[in-house]
Amino acid sequence: MPDESVSPDGDKPPESLTSVAGVIVAAGSGERLGADRPKAMIEVAGRPLWRWAVDAMREGGCERIIVVTPPEWVAVVAAADPDAMVVPGGDSRQESVGLGLAALAAEPPQYVLVHDAARGLTPAAVVGRVVASVRDGNVAVTPVVPVADTIRQFSDDTSHLLDRHKLCAVQTPQGFVFDVLTRAHAKATAKGLVATDDVTLAERAGQPVTLVDGDALAFKITTRTDLALAQLLAGGD
Ligand code: CTP
Ligand code: MG
Repeated sequence: MPDESVSPDGDKPPESLTSVAGVIVAAGSGERLGADRPKAMIEVAGRPLWRWAVDAMREGGCERIIVVTPPEWVAVVAAADPDAMVVPGGDSRQESVGLGLAALAAEPPQYVLVHDAARGLTPAAVVGRVVASVRDGNVAVTPVVPVADTIRQFSDDTSHLLDRHKLCAVQTPQGFVFDVLTRAHAKATAKGLVATDDVTLAERAGQPVTLVDGDALAFKITTRTDLALAQLLAGGD
């Protein structure tokens, strides 16, 4: 009888012994949207954005879910989803991610995905591609999409064209070996590094970043125009 504790893939543990957690950051105020509640609490087609994100993460392969919310929304979200762990966020996205990771520390998963609730319409297939890539041995993974606009870079009083074929727009969820991301965050905190996403922190800690295909539907809902588009796409009112 084969020894089931030995993985056929050499160093990689068998899938049954791995676990994937999802941290959904939903603690922002949504200042640019200017609604009467935090952005992640806004409903699109009858579901708040945080719930859209949770559902896609579960469907895409995350077995455990942490939702990071504004402190005053913790009880509301916890009551709405008893299977999720809900923790209060911080003053910046980076801090909120750190608090989500800290909530996992007692029982660390092998892999973690970090996802913006603001990207509520992200298809589960994107989550699935990121999960597959980390399970395949990539330590820091991000979905990306091509850039449609012509982009110029400016400095002082001049500007120049960038080759958009060499550019891509970065989305979430971003996936990591759990220890890689916790160490990258600890290093960033110690050195005062700030980044708007997590693969950048892993990269600054010396880790390679792997790109997978994102999806136009994973756009970040930032403005009222974005929200109107999301409502239309989701078939809500
Ligand atoms: N986020 C968070 N904690 C913060 C700030 C942001 O968890 N202190 C989350 C947001 O809830 C969002 C994601 O990070 O899901 C991306 O941030 P962004 O789109 O900028 O959302 P907000 O910060 O809420 O929006 P704004 O910048 O317009 O206030
Ligand atoms: Mg913000």
